Amino acid sequence: MARRNKLRKFSDLSTFKNVFQCFDPTAPSLVGMDNQKVELKGKWKTDHFKNNNPIVLELACGRGEYTLALGAMYPDKNFIGVDVKGARIWQGAVHSREQNLENVAFLRTRIEKIDFFFMPDEVEEIWITFPDPFERASKANRRLTYHNFHDYYRKFLKPGGIVQLKTDSDSLWENTLESLAEDKRITILYQNDNIYDSPLDFPELEFKTYYEKSHLEKGRLIKYIRYTIH
Ligand SMILES: C[S@@+](CC[C@H](N)C(=O)[O-])C[C@H]1O[C@@H](n2cnc3c(N)ncnc32)[C@H](O)[C@@H]1O
Repeated sequence: MARRNKLRKFSDLSTFKNVFQCFDPTAPSLVGMDNQKVELKGKWKTDHFKNNNPIVLELACGRGEYTLALGAMYPDKNFIGVDVKGARIWQGAVHSREQNLENVAFLRTRIEKIDFFFMPDEVEEIWITFPDPFERASKANRRLTYHNFHDYYRKFLKPGGIVQLKTDSDSLWENTLESLAEDKRITILYQNDNIYDSPLDFPELEFKTYYEKSHLEKGRLIKYIRYTIH
């Protein structure tokens, strides 16, 4: 039954006008509605959003809760939630349609391929929300704040564009700080290893995803860092 539901969600994805999918990471390209091929690199604003507003990505968006909340809070920005899991993105897509959030879209791809879908300077800001920590050193290059990912982000993030990480994971937090310290082109703008210990410094931090809620129930501390990658 669960598998049938998942398959139904996968097939539903091609009925949403704001969902774009990459099925083959070895030859990255995108399909949109009705599985029609689309070319959005460099054209997200003109061809999809049909405005000239800044683009913000949420990486590892899961069900897209942050993407939706940010989209509702900032109607004058465009938000794209990115995740490889179709059944999770489906939930975000359903809610964006229910809420008429025209400034929200979803991109289903492995984040390792993300630079195939954006032109230099096309993105203004990146959120990374509760990504998998990949604690083992042998998996370091799968952490979304590891050097290899910063090199992908550099290819399309505007100069001065910011990256923001929200996590409960002590190991990811430590590993991220190490990665950032080793890269001379990175400037940390703000960091806080227990954001709910005092009034929030940024209103966007109040949103809580499915994973964040479950971490808070277990008494984990939520950490947040924002930085620029030159
Ligand atoms: C722990 S969940 C967090 C989801 C959501 N941000 C939240 O807070 O509820 C991590 C998500 O990252 C996605 N993910 C991890 N590595 C990824 C990658 N390399 N490419 C695409 N998605 C990835 C997984 O599919 C999963 O949905």
